[in-house]
Formats: sequence, C-alpha cells, structure tokens
Amino acid sequence: MIVVTGATGNVGRALVERLVAAGRPVRALTRDPQRAGLPEGAEVVRFDPDEGAALFDGASKLFLYVQAGGARTGALLDAARTAGVRHVALLSSGIIQEGSDETHPIHVMHATAEQQIRDSGLEWTFLRPNAFAINALQWAPQIRTSDTVRGVYAGMLTAPIHEDDIAAVAERVLLDPGHEGAVHRLTGPEAVTNTEQIAAIGRVIGRDLRFVETPPEEAGPELFPHVPPEIVKGLLKSFEAAVGVPPEITTTVEKLTGVPARTFARWAEDHADDFRS
Ligand SMILES: NC(=O)c1ccc[n+]([C@@H]2O[C@H](COP(=O)([O-])OP(=O)(O)OC[C@H]3O[C@@H](n4cnc5c(N)ncnc54)[C@H](OP(=O)(O)O)[C@@H]3O)[C@@H](O)[C@H]2O)c1
Repeated sequence: MIVVTGATGNVGRALVERLVAAGRPVRALTRDPQRAGLPEGAEVVRFDPDEGAALFDGASKLFLYVQAGGARTGALLDAARTAGVRHVALLSSGIIQEGSDETHPIHVMHATAEQQIRDSGLEWTFLRPNAFAINALQWAPQIRTSDTVRGVYAGMLTAPIHEDDIAAVAERVLLDPGHEGAVHRLTGPEAVTNTEQIAAIGRVIGRDLRFVETPPEEAGPELFPHVPPEIVKGLLKSFEAAVGVPPEITTTVEKLTGVPARTFARWAEDHADDFRS
C-alpha cells in the first residue's frame, strides 16, 4: 500500500491516477473526501495528522507533501514508521542547493522537512523540482477576461516542469528499487520567459495575448492568488534573480521515466480549457 498526501493537489492527484492505472494499492489522503473527486480505484481517507496509526495501517511507502505535515511532520513520520512504512518520497524544492539563501521561507520549509525525514529512520528520496508549469494558472483569471496580462519580470527565465512529469518520477521512485538516499533535481526541458509563456498560452487558445510588466513594488496579492502572503516578498526576490539568467535544466525526468520532460507549450495544450472563458 502506498499512502499519498496532498492527493487532490497538482502532483498528488497525478500520482494517484498513475498508481491506480498501474494497478497498485493506493491510499489517497485529503482533508475533504466528499469533494476530492479522486479515482475509483484509490482508497480515499480523510487526512487527520492526529490519526497517524490509521492513516498508515498496512502501508509500506509514503509520498509526502510538505504542507501536509506542517508542524506535525515529525509525529506523522513516527506514526508512519511505527505502522510499517519503510520509504518516504518527499516533494521538496529545487530551492535547496549549494549557495542558496537558507533564510528564504520556502527554503526553510523544505529543508526542515528534509531534515525531519533524515532523522526519522525511514529510507527516503527527495524530489527537488524547480518552477512548476502550473504556476501559469496565476494568469488564468486575467486571460479569461483580457488579452493583456499584467505580471512581474517579463524576462524572468525558468524551465517549467509539467506536474505529471513530477508525478511520473514519483511513481518510479515509489515502485522501483534503488532510489533510497537519492536527491532528484527536476526541471522542464527548456528555458522560457514569462512573455513566452503568455504567448504560448495564447497560441493554444487562438488569441494574441500580451504580457505587460508591472513594477514589483506595485505587485499586490491579486497577482499571486495561490501564494501565502508571507511568502510573496521572498518569491519576488527569487524572480528578480532569474531575469535573463539561464535556469538549471536537468534530464532527470527522461533518465528515470524513459520519456522526455514535456515542454511548456505541451503543458499549455493540456490546460487550454483552464484559460478559456
Ligand atoms: N509551485 C512551484 O513552482 C513549486 C516548485 C518547487 C516545489 N514546490 C512545492 O510543491 C508543493 C506543492 O505541490 P502541489 O502544487 O502538488 O500542491 P497543491 O496543489 O498546492 O496542494 C496539495 C494538496 O494538499 C492539501 N493541503 C493544502 N494545504 C494543506 C495543509 N495546510 N494541510 C494539509 N493538507 C493541505 C490540499 O488537499 P485537500 O484540501 O484535499 O486536503 C491540496 O490539494 C509545495 O510544497 C511547494 O512548495 C512548488
């Protein structure tokens, strides 16, 4: 049995779908099973961090999403180990690397979870993806109503990764032997600017979209609807550092899954309906 936390999330849902399709027993955790809309073949269980013993009963592997544990991550890992879980795959972040700002709140959150896992006595694998392609949904409300998209740092470069490519790697890590103690850095296959992402979305929905740069000091929370307000400042700092700077590009997705990582254009095709009014 594989337990998936954050199972209704971008990566978690894709992973649950993959494990069900592969015929593997999967327990999908969500705070609201009624609204989860998870595949039939998954055992959907209400996530309650105080009910660790029940969550992990009969499980041998765990996919952990950092926010799921929060302050209770240590207790959750203890419960997992006690119940017989042997291996945890953590959805961490590419922000953790040599020379990065260790005080950045996103760094702190993921580094803390990695350390708790190292201390837990469980076997582990860390997935450290850089920017998700699905961050582009931040522009969807604007695109549904206008051809002009306001945002910060038009020339910021990332190599956005498709959420299902992260799930595909997680699937291999959980099902194949040999990933214990590995750190997998994950990116999409090519660098794109924000301007190019907007143009790519425009192409798939048949509209001529334009990115208009907003000065970061004028960027209000409405530009980052999915980002906790306390993280926005740190995020803007990372964005500024990525303007015109070629991003890290890895080939880990292809090495581990046998299939090349999908481009941003392909991601936009898969999500075209999210941008249509
Ligand atoms: N976006 C990026 O560019 C990027 C890059 C690198 C790393 N990451 C990391 O990747 C993770 C996000 O992954 P994702 O996009 O797949 O997740 P997501 O879609 O944001 O959410 C995952 C699920 O977790 C549950 N959840 C949310 N808050 C929770 C909480 N406080 N306690 C318990 N459950 C909670 C929700 O499900 P229910 O409501 O059904 O419980 C949600 O659907 C984060 O840790 C992020 O830092 C993101």
